[in-house]
Amino acid sequence: MSPAPARFKATGPLRGRVRVPGDKSISHRSLMLSALAVGESRVEGLLEGEDVLATAAAMRAMGAAIERGGDGIWRISGVGVGGLLQPQAALDMGNSGTSTRLLMGLVATHAITCTFTGDASLSKRPMGRVTDPLSQMGAEFSASPGGRLPLMVRGLCPAVPIEYRLPVASAQVKSAILLAGLNTPGITRVIEPVATRDHSERMLRGFGADLTVEQIEGARLISIRGEAELKPQQIVVPGDPSSAAFPIVAALLVPGSDIVVENVGLNPTRAGLIEVLQAMGGDITLLDPREVGGEPVADVRVRGSALTGIEVSPDIVPSMVDEFPVLFVAAALAKGRTVTRGLEELRVKESDRIRVMADGLRAIGAHVEETEDGLIIDGTGGEKLAGGATVATHLDHRIAMSFAVAGLAAVNDVTIDDMAPVATSFPIFTDLMRALGAEA
Ligand code: S3P
Repeated sequence: MSPAPARFKATGPLRGRVRVPGDKSISHRSLMLSALAVGESRVEGLLEGEDVLATAAAMRAMGAAIERGGDGIWRISGVGVGGLLQPQAALDMGNSGTSTRLLMGLVATHAITCTFTGDASLSKRPMGRVTDPLSQMGAEFSASPGGRLPLMVRGLCPAVPIEYRLPVASAQVKSAILLAGLNTPGITRVIEPVATRDHSERMLRGFGADLTVEQIEGARLISIRGEAELKPQQIVVPGDPSSAAFPIVAALLVPGSDIVVENVGLNPTRAGLIEVLQAMGGDITLLDPREVGGEPVADVRVRGSALTGIEVSPDIVPSMVDEFPVLFVAAALAKGRTVTRGLEELRVKESDRIRVMADGLRAIGAHVEETEDGLIIDGTGGEKLAGGATVATHLDHRIAMSFAVAGLAAVNDVTIDDMAPVATSFPIFTDLMRALGAEA
């Protein structure tokens, strides 16, 4: 696809109420588990972005019936745990690391063989973190050099249950093992020294899997009993906090703004950004807290605010791992210094988000020092950034959206070299920002 450049300009106050699309992590999981249940599940509010559609296509290729109704509700007839079929062609995962890693877990314990392919960004990302534990369960892998895509998996059924201590804080690795455990006789255990997003645990339980979580010596021990029977569910997907992050930061940075982002998922394993922005002086209030689909949700009101730099504790990183690019933009306009550490995982996301954000922020006039595991940013104290540059997004949706937000708070326009990747997670991003008054 040819690149789609776009320009974002300094804007007057942002105003209005908006809803962001459904949570990407929950959308992937709702399709996968529905496809493994016996009977018809319904999913409302599914994120209809390219990443999630890649998961839907893969589950169809392995036998599930998945349809979107005219009412926007997705209906999925599952094949039952153990019932996945051999796909007839390679599974193209596009840009989606979550689809790839979680589906590798599913395939690993079914008697099927398949090949995963992806775009240039996904083909650079490490897969050894999932192939290592899944090999211990008996699956065989043949990967491209460096443990990357294209990669072939030969699943084993019955597989061998393992107890695995996560060497990196990764919800994708945890979920891949738990999904592999669904079709494995006995009990599969994952030890998670640092808690990561727990949507898999919540949803597996919701579908009737026998899954327990215990705290042992400061770590989470998650146990799942295999050969499970999953019962179909009706799922309502809350709005994605990782998408909400962009209008939230934009409203903080543009003076006089006052917006509400409705129906934002605020699972504590995802809500770190709001806490950090409030600690920086951001005027953010949570209205009408409630529960949607077993997840905490609220409407988030945000007003333009003078922000102050802070030291961000590495402990909070897992609960905002995808939000650092846009936090860096907020820090670039805060008063004083913001220090972030413990972000080594950002280097293996859709792009090297530490390097790419440092380069782009410098190009638009911010003061940034790159360290091995984070950025140190000296903010302008509320003065607009210079802007007037084109920023390279490296097939990374969150880089594109972060610099779009920066453009709203820059003297000269910020040009994004390619907005196309935004369709992976937040296809209506530009329209939604325009609805709030942004110029793009
Ligand atoms: C995700 C987990 C995180 C996150 C990604 C979605 C998930 O990745 O960055 O956007 O849905 O499990 P890691 O597991 O690599 O941290």
